[in-house]
Amino acid sequence: MNPALIDFPSEFTTARLRLRAPQAGDGAAVNTAIRESHAELQPWMPWARMLPSPADSEAFIREKAAQFALRTDLVFQIFLRSSGEFIGATGLHRMDWEVPRFEIGYWLRTSRSGQGYMSEAVRGLTDFAATRLGARRLEIRMDHDNAASRRVAERSGYPLEAILHNDRRNLDGEVVHSCIYALTFDP
Ligand SMILES: CC(C)(COP(=O)(O)OP(=O)(O)OC[C@H]1O[C@@H](n2cnc3c(N)ncnc32)[C@H](O)[C@@H]1OP(=O)(O)O)[C@@H](O)C(=O)NCCC(=O)NCCS
Repeated sequence: MNPALIDFPSEFTTARLRLRAPQAGDGAAVNTAIRESHAELQPWMPWARMLPSPADSEAFIREKAAQFALRTDLVFQIFLRSSGEFIGATGLHRMDWEVPRFEIGYWLRTSRSGQGYMSEAVRGLTDFAATRLGARRLEIRMDHDNAASRRVAERSGYPLEAILHNDRRNLDGEVVHSCIYALTFDP
């Protein structure tokens, strides 16, 4: 089956947040948030090592909008419902629609951290994937030492499934362990 033919909403809300597919024009707000959050993002996110220009961010957003339409990568931009402010992104990546299974990723702009927004977004995305996309497996992978990311997974109700020792090299070239948190759903 061609995933591009799978129909589902391109946005949903939680108590405090609105999450929607990327749209042309989002690049400027994304770029401001990345620049503000560079110190927190760059240890973990390869794309944040070199600061992108506003044009780079807009090109990235348009690529993600196209991938959302094709169902090959599903980024959700996160906005505060109260003010409309862009505060970060999450998404369903590296999917296998045959299962279906997805990997969840996320980042938050630094000025909005520490308020439970990402845990709320991940819980909302988990519900969306399970009820709208029929997900049978959702996993969240991160560096063993990424304590903030591990807390988001745990706070969102994901059990630790495995620690993969000497799994990969980090962005500084050191061999590091990875964690896999996973939720599974059976019909
Ligand atoms: C990972 C990341 C998104 C976590 O952000 P965060 O703000 O800690 O996560 P949350 O939005 O879920 O907020 C949780 C914090 O808010 C606090 N909080 C305040 N009000 C809250 C509420 N109503 N509900 C839940 N938590 C609340 C919690 O106590 C928690 O603080 P603590 O970590 O000191 O215990 C952020 O650190 C980040 O973007 N890091 C860089 C990118 C990255 O590593 N991404 C993951 C790659 S795998």
